[in-house]
Amino acid sequence: MAFKSMLPFVTVAAALQVANAALTRRVACPDGVNTATNAACCNLFAVRDILQDQLFDGRECGEEVHESLRLTFHDAIGFSRSAVKAGKFGGGGADGSIAIFEDIETNFHANGGVDEIIDTQRPFVQMSNMTTADFIQFAGAIGVSNCPGAPQLDVFIGRKDATQPAPDLTVPEPFDTVDSILARMLDGGDFSPAEVVALLASHTVAAADHVDPTIPGTPFDSTPSLFDTQFFIETQLRGTLFPGSDGDNQGEVMSPLAGEIRLQSDHTLARDSRTNCAWQSFANNQAMMQSAFKAAFRKMTVIGHNERDLIDCSEVVQTPPALKANPHFPAGLTHADVEQACATAFFPTLPTDPGPATSVAPVPPS
Ligand code: HEM
Repeated sequence: MAFKSMLPFVTVAAALQVANAALTRRVACPDGVNTATNAACCNLFAVRDILQDQLFDGRECGEEVHESLRLTFHDAIGFSRSAVKAGKFGGGGADGSIAIFEDIETNFHANGGVDEIIDTQRPFVQMSNMTTADFIQFAGAIGVSNCPGAPQLDVFIGRKDATQPAPDLTVPEPFDTVDSILARMLDGGDFSPAEVVALLASHTVAAADHVDPTIPGTPFDSTPSLFDTQFFIETQLRGTLFPGSDGDNQGEVMSPLAGEIRLQSDHTLARDSRTNCAWQSFANNQAMMQSAFKAAFRKMTVIGHNERDLIDCSEVVQTPPALKANPHFPAGLTHADVEQACATAFFPTLPTDPGPATSVAPVPPS
């Protein structure tokens, strides 16, 4: 009797065991080295290794990584939910259109400069056996894994390639108002103001070539090869200078450090009441910034798709190096230089780097 009444439990336990085994079952990849949860991911190990060696110069967090990350956004945000609702074509989101229709989309003003990385990536796309849509998001995630302090980003494959270009004006500009940026990000990717702030953690590994074209490669924070929180600290400091010689350019406002450039959009988002507390919350919270960026990036990479239709190949992404530095004010600056914006919490107390005022301006050749 007792045995009989236990039967249903035994059956359930056995069923769970089978389900677990199915979930954790891995396939051996044809390369003889790797295993994967889905055979479709096997190809990505080799593509990853080639990108690391040949595109990212042996696991650097340099220019190609920064440009590849920017490209993930400019491709994915090419989507409009309101256009679709109105029965019009609103773009395909993360569909590779930016590279497939390079001739059209790189002429859109907001896409200035992305042609370089599209052209650099093209031979790798061709050898990868991936769709262009998948490749762009994959390359961004692999590149970011080289940046100390970055989260390990998720990777999905299975997107179909675009058959037509995205419409113009889907990519926000640095001179856009906060209203317009938040509206565009909501329409493009259903992003909340907090998710927009999270996505902008990307500007911690970033520089501008075209905002002030006389000083290409000018970074947004003092540590552009680290995925740290300095971007959120330094954008909250009072701006005192323009890094270039020809004053303010469209979309540029003053920055607090020699050799650092500040986008008007980053400045206004750091101060607007809808976004300033989220912005400040990342200033000394690396873990929170990492997890918020990881989640928002994942959402961005599947714009125009249903995640359930895609294959999760996140296991291919390497663990990023740990961050060794702590949040700080650059030398010469203190809490007194903070423009407090969040109304409900004070900007955190941070140490100031020792030594003469920090400059990230390139040293002129002697
Ligand atoms: C919300 C609105 C955003 C605006 C207005 C904006 C604007 C800009 C601008 C003007 C540049 C400089 C381009 C140049 O002159 O070379 C830039 C660079 C960059 N952006 Fe954004 N961006 C936004 C959001 C994002 C997002 C969501 C991501 C990624 C998830 C991203 C990633 C990058 C990266 C990595 C760079 C540096 C590229 C490099 O160093 O070559 N941006 N952004």
